[in-house]
Amino acid sequence: MGRFDSRAAIVTGGALGIGKGCARQIAASGGSVLIVDVNEAAGSMTVEEIRSSGGTAEFMHGNVAEESIAKSMVEKATSSFGRLDILVQNAYAGADNSGSAVEVQSENWHAGMDLLVGALYFGAKYAVPAMEISGPDPRFIQPEWAGAGRRQAPPPPQNVGRIVNISSVHGLCAAPRSLIYNTGKAAVIGLTRQMAIDFGPLGITVNAIAPGHIVTERGEDMWDEVGDDAGFRLFELQYPVRRTGVPDDIANAVTFICSNEASFITGQVLSVDGGMTVQIQENLVMDVKDYIVANPDLKTHFDSERGSSRF
Ligand SMILES: NC(=O)c1ccc[n+]([C@@H]2O[C@H](COP(=O)([O-])OP(=O)(O)OC[C@H]3O[C@@H](n4cnc5c(N)ncnc54)[C@H](O)[C@@H]3O)[C@@H](O)[C@H]2O)c1
Repeated sequence: MGRFDSRAAIVTGGALGIGKGCARQIAASGGSVLIVDVNEAAGSMTVEEIRSSGGTAEFMHGNVAEESIAKSMVEKATSSFGRLDILVQNAYAGADNSGSAVEVQSENWHAGMDLLVGALYFGAKYAVPAMEISGPDPRFIQPEWAGAGRRQAPPPPQNVGRIVNISSVHGLCAAPRSLIYNTGKAAVIGLTRQMAIDFGPLGITVNAIAPGHIVTERGEDMWDEVGDDAGFRLFELQYPVRRTGVPDDIANAVTFICSNEASFITGQVLSVDGGMTVQIQENLVMDVKDYIVANPDLKTHFDSERGSSRF
């Protein structure tokens, strides 16, 4: 039996990258997955990949920052799969977002907040009632209550739904000239805690994942553009585990959070970052200095056009 047999999920931004990793893993464990993405070509290919491995998947084209898309994705999931149990809110596209408060354009600020934060509000607004109607996983076994016998009322609903919001290490630590992204990803953590409090009594858990640097298809292009392996190695050396992440690292965490075993975990932000955000920077800087001295021609992605953190 698969972990998600008879469960139905929506993954926003599931055509590529981290979302694709999540969609593939949920489907590989028996769940039905609706991928909602603005990239129709990549989304359809991912659906085909999942189906050819024996999984169940559908694609819906749409910008999740629009309320009407959030409403229709929930309608499509429930009409295609008969229920909705899991919502992974992952979609993001970050063009034109770099800058401090004096640099960013107000239209980019509003568009950034609409996608980074607003889309997650819309997603939950429509998904939560659908999860309640779908009810709990029929295979879920209620934990033994320590207070059994003393409890005057039946236990509250359990394992009705799972919402996972993808934040970032940028939601925990600030980077220079990243006002929109850092503010949005920090807001994702606040929104997650609020939703956990609001929806816990309904049996719906809400958690956030804060990924470190994950090399996706887009990330590989970025590093190819830089074309400097020593630069990539430097990037990896910042991580206590001495590597950057891959989409499956995040998908592993998301699928655990969505499992029946995680029913007592809610309102949390889980850093999946190889330990990057728990280290003391002054020691790291000395190691990095030695590496830079030994590799004087270094380039990292901060040297590319897309690098956003120059000071
Ligand atoms: N890759 C990383 O290093 C990293 C690190 C921390 C956090 N994150 C977060 O993880 C999530 C996924 O990032 P990724 O690196 O896999 O990105 P990606 O660019 O590889 O994939 C993002 C997907 O979202 C889709 N998308 C973009 N805007 C959309 C919209 N408005 N509506 C629907 N779909 C949309 C894209 O078409 C794409 O398929 C994002 O929330 C990102 O902020 C990524």
